[in-house]
Amino acid sequence: MTSSDIISETLPASMTNKLSVPGDFYKMAFQFQQIMMIYESAIKQIETKLDILNKESSVNRTRNPISTVKSRIKSPESIAKKLEKKGLPVNFDSMMENLNDIAGVRVICPYISDIYSVRDMLLKQPDLTLIRQNDYIDKPKESGYRSLHLVMEIPVYLSKTEHNVRVEIQLRTIAMDFWASLEHQLRYKNSAKVPDSVRRELFRVAETIAMTDREMEEIAIELQALD
Ligand code: GTP
Ligand code: MG
Repeated sequence: MTSSDIISETLPASMTNKLSVPGDFYKMAFQFQQIMMIYESAIKQIETKLDILNKESSVNRTRNPISTVKSRIKSPESIAKKLEKKGLPVNFDSMMENLNDIAGVRVICPYISDIYSVRDMLLKQPDLTLIRQNDYIDKPKESGYRSLHLVMEIPVYLSKTEHNVRVEIQLRTIAMDFWASLEHQLRYKNSAKVPDSVRRELFRVAETIAMTDREMEEIAIELQALD
């Protein structure tokens, strides 16, 4: 997907009439809006798929594999910062080419096994293509962070054009989300570098939480066997 496929060259008359404001400003803003609308549409489609899969479980009277879904579009500020940090050009084509997480969906599941069931259900959808998978549950990050990350591509159909859009899907348990949310907050609140001793503490807590996740799953399996 490149920006020229998306952007319609002519500005709407309502914009060109406002001559007191520089044309470039409108042009850039209009182009950005056109691009972001496509990412928002991709998020909506993924959310709908997840909703349908969860509803299917409800109808079949099986446990819902998803507790919550949260989505976000990356802000222009974060997009620019990330491109700059990676030493990449800051423009529309570069962001669409290089960033996988402009559209982000977070899926929070009750149990670890649910994460992999949801992953498998997504992989079976014929219109979704897996671009990348990072299993930070199997191989947690140095920080202790755990989640399953998928980058998937989904087609978005507009009135005249079709676009393949990448979406980053993060799947984690409620417990993993609890850790990641607080750890993220702590790291961003303290602008000073987090001391090694605190890093080790956070890592240790992540390990404890992972153990709790596994124990809860074992309990659930035991109870299921009694049904
Ligand atoms: P980026 O360029 O950072 O996106 O690298 P990447 O594409 O390899 O992404 P990665 O798979 O590392 O995932 C990045 C995202 O995962 C972040 O935006 C966070 O949402 C989440 N994440 C990764 N590591 C941590 C961590 O240590 N703590 C928390 N709280 N979140 C993390
Ligand atoms: Mg990323």
